[in-house]
Amino acid sequence: QGLFTYDPGFVSTAACESKITYIDGENGVLLHRGYPIEQLAESSDYLELCYLLVRGELPTEEQSNEYRQTVSQHTMVHDQMTHFFNGFRRDAHPMAIMCGVVGALSAFYHDKDFSDQEHRDIAMFRLVAKMPTVAAMCYKYTMGQPFVYPKNELNYAENFLHMMFSTPCGDYEINPVIAEAMDKIFMLHADHEQNASTSTVRLAGSTGANPFACMASGIAALWGPAHGGANEAVLTMLEEIGDIEHIDEFVAKAKDKEDPFRLMGFGHRVYKNFDPRAKVMRQTCDEVLEALGLENDPLLKIAKRLEQIALEDEYFIKRKLYPNVDFYSGIILRAIGIPVSMFTVIFAMSRTIGWFAHWNEMVSEDYRIGRPRQLYTGYTKRDYPTK
Ligand code: CMC
Repeated sequence: QGLFTYDPGFVSTAACESKITYIDGENGVLLHRGYPIEQLAESSDYLELCYLLVRGELPTEEQSNEYRQTVSQHTMVHDQMTHFFNGFRRDAHPMAIMCGVVGALSAFYHDKDFSDQEHRDIAMFRLVAKMPTVAAMCYKYTMGQPFVYPKNELNYAENFLHMMFSTPCGDYEINPVIAEAMDKIFMLHADHEQNASTSTVRLAGSTGANPFACMASGIAALWGPAHGGANEAVLTMLEEIGDIEHIDEFVAKAKDKEDPFRLMGFGHRVYKNFDPRAKVMRQTCDEVLEALGLENDPLLKIAKRLEQIALEDEYFIKRKLYPNVDFYSGIILRAIGIPVSMFTVIFAMSRTIGWFAHWNEMVSEDYRIGRPRQLYTGYTKRDYPTK
């Protein structure tokens, strides 16, 4: 069968070198370009993190202002894109719309020469600036509401909330606690080294494909409930549990090996200790719920109790299954008033910069087309039956 290493799920195969993000799963460490996520979440913001992930260093004040200014100049999408949206059914999942629309950006912003860093930079600005616009348009379209244009005097998170919630009848009133929490959600999802979607983007990019099309491949990979779709699945699960009294029943189902059900928002392939993003998210969650007076929200009570039970249960302790980032982000997003179907869309718009940073890192150096091998387990050669 040749000299291949058989590694289903890529548990022990490094497919690339990277300088962007470091994870130590045993010790719950996540560093972006060397900076701990906790410090970045405390003192930085999403746009600065975007700069850091791609460029490798924190910006000076002047570089930061220039970066923000350029992003704000690219927030509009081509007007023809509205026709593209109109082709979708109104009840389509916003992730399905996003996947198609982001892929279509490759037709609107095609560039033959991505070997040049300047051209790649333009793609980066377009992606960072347009993803919130596209995400909000996905939501507005499914709601049957008119699209809301970006307001470039607002900051990144505020602008997203404005495009999501303002209507021709009135502008959304920005609550700074919510805008800050939104920015934190963007930051905590920005990059996570070679996860399924980032690896997909690298693989697609390794063929020389257009970067916008590569981002669409990342969106497709992110959609599943084992990856980015988990935040949506957490809320669906909490609603299904419905009452604290039913938690034991769901925990028993999760432990039953005959039952495919898993506790959504628990466990991680790499973190075998607490997910450091979950720690920050948990605190943000408490702040948002307090600011909105939602501490007694019944779903939140179920979530807190579930967290407590799972953290004390031998099954979860033995397998090192802790609440992950999606467990808390779903609760925050719900409190902000974001519909569940938009949760993964928000993850995708936040992660786009991570996907871009990895694509950019790969194409800036010598790279080969990604081509995994297989262990063939089918028939050996056999003859087609003669009549
Ligand atoms: N509930 C119950 N049991 C679980 C869970 C769970 N959420 N997660 C893992 N297990 C068990 C699993 O059944 C297995 O048990 P055993 O050893 O007895 O067979 C053991 O834990 C190891 O699981 P695994 O499937 O080998 O672990 P993995 O690294 O392949 O999967 C995971 C990681 C995140 C896909 C998985 O933990 C899971 O499905 N979690 C729920 C979905 C979720 O929250 N996903 C979001 C991940 S974080 C955001 C992101 O990076 O996208």
